[in-house]
Amino acid sequence: MGTFYFFLFQAHSGWRWVALLFLVVTTIKVVIGWAANQNWSNLDSRLVSFTNIAVSIQVLLGIFLYVMFLTQGAGITGRSIGAISGGHLVPALLAVAGTGFAVGRSRRAQNSRDKFKFASIGLIVADLMVYGALATVGGIFAMATS
Ligand code: HEM
Repeated sequence: MGTFYFFLFQAHSGWRWVALLFLVVTTIKVVIGWAANQNWSNLDSRLVSFTNIAVSIQVLLGIFLYVMFLTQGAGITGRSIGAISGGHLVPALLAVAGTGFAVGRSRRAQNSRDKFKFASIGLIVADLMVYGALATVGGIFAMATS
């Protein structure tokens, strides 16, 4: 296991906490906004946008790691290439689709109710997909050591 792979692995593994924090906080905020018929604020736009950026960074780090994982044929968690490709990469890409949907549709919607609705739907999909991606590598709290 090379030092660079280890470094990238730690960055990708650690960044999950940033992504999870944004996902949880923003989802709760927009679902409450939707249920309570609140007015869409600048803070809502920022939170949805930062969540998308945090998940995108996670995925970008993952893709760099994946390329190295493929070239060396094995990683740190003990998962196979098939498991990482099917059970980790695919749900992770669907998660970015979810956060992207949340950003795009909430921006274009005409009223607060629709903005909250689209943001909630996109983020709930993203939460479920991130949960699925994490389940493949040992769960939300997984911390493999080399
Ligand atoms: C929402 C997106 C993602 C999350 C939350 C996430 C989370 C994680 C976590 C927490 C680990 C390490 C587990 C541990 O420390 O034991 C990990 C490992 C890994 N992830 Fe991701 N990941 C995401 C997306 C991706 C993507 C898009 C790829 C690209 C295919 C990817 C590729 C990998 C690889 C190659 C490993 C290391 C496998 C190993 O060395 O055994 N991840 N991921």
